[in-house]
Amino acid sequence: MRGKFITFEGPEGSGKSTQIRMLAARLRSSGRTVFETAEPGGTPIGMQIRRVLLDQQNREMCPTTELLLMFACRAQNVEQWILPALGEGQIVLSDRFTDSSLVYQGIARGLGAEVVYDVDRIACRGLVPDLTLVIDIDTETGLARAHARNRRTQDVETRLDEQALGFHRKVRDAYHQLASDEPNRVRLIDGGRDENAVAEEVWQTVLPLLA
Ligand code: TYD
Repeated sequence: MRGKFITFEGPEGSGKSTQIRMLAARLRSSGRTVFETAEPGGTPIGMQIRRVLLDQQNREMCPTTELLLMFACRAQNVEQWILPALGEGQIVLSDRFTDSSLVYQGIARGLGAEVVYDVDRIACRGLVPDLTLVIDIDTETGLARAHARNRRTQDVETRLDEQALGFHRKVRDAYHQLASDEPNRVRLIDGGRDENAVAEEVWQTVLPLLA
């Protein structure tokens, strides 16, 4: 039996990581086996690539390098963790996946969707999420949350959080466009509400997939 592959997407500071934790807990308490991963990173090799990608000092990184490193993490994650877990029938939850590359590198950086899908064919070998939840948040609110978190944790992996406001607006618009282009797979969820209200909508959106 093949499991289910659910991805979470969204702009900075949307609260998607909290939502993944809450969904995973609810799925486990209903008796399901859940595997959680996150990108960029995930596997031990992916975590090493993540450091290069997000290091504030790597300001000269060109968009194509950024794209290929994102997909290097993803290829390793797909091969080492995601496909085996799906093969065992687990529910796999990923904090970001190819849609992030589409939105950040393809649209906001301007590499184009075709380039992203070309690399996706090599790295993911046809693996597409069964369901994608975009936790949406107003750009200014999301960035304020993300910057506050970075200060709190003294995070140095902030190269992408520190892009200009216009970049993050493009990211948000691109997620809206994606949700209207692929309404069956991609669902937009308002992340500006109380986290329990968001979690309930996430749960109601996921339930039909598990029936
Ligand atoms: P991360 O610290 O994991 O934060 P978040 O909570 O926002 O997921 O940062 C990951 C950053 O990398 C984030 O700014 C989005 C970006 N990103 C891409 O640009 N392309 C990608 O393919 C992925 C997976 C992430």
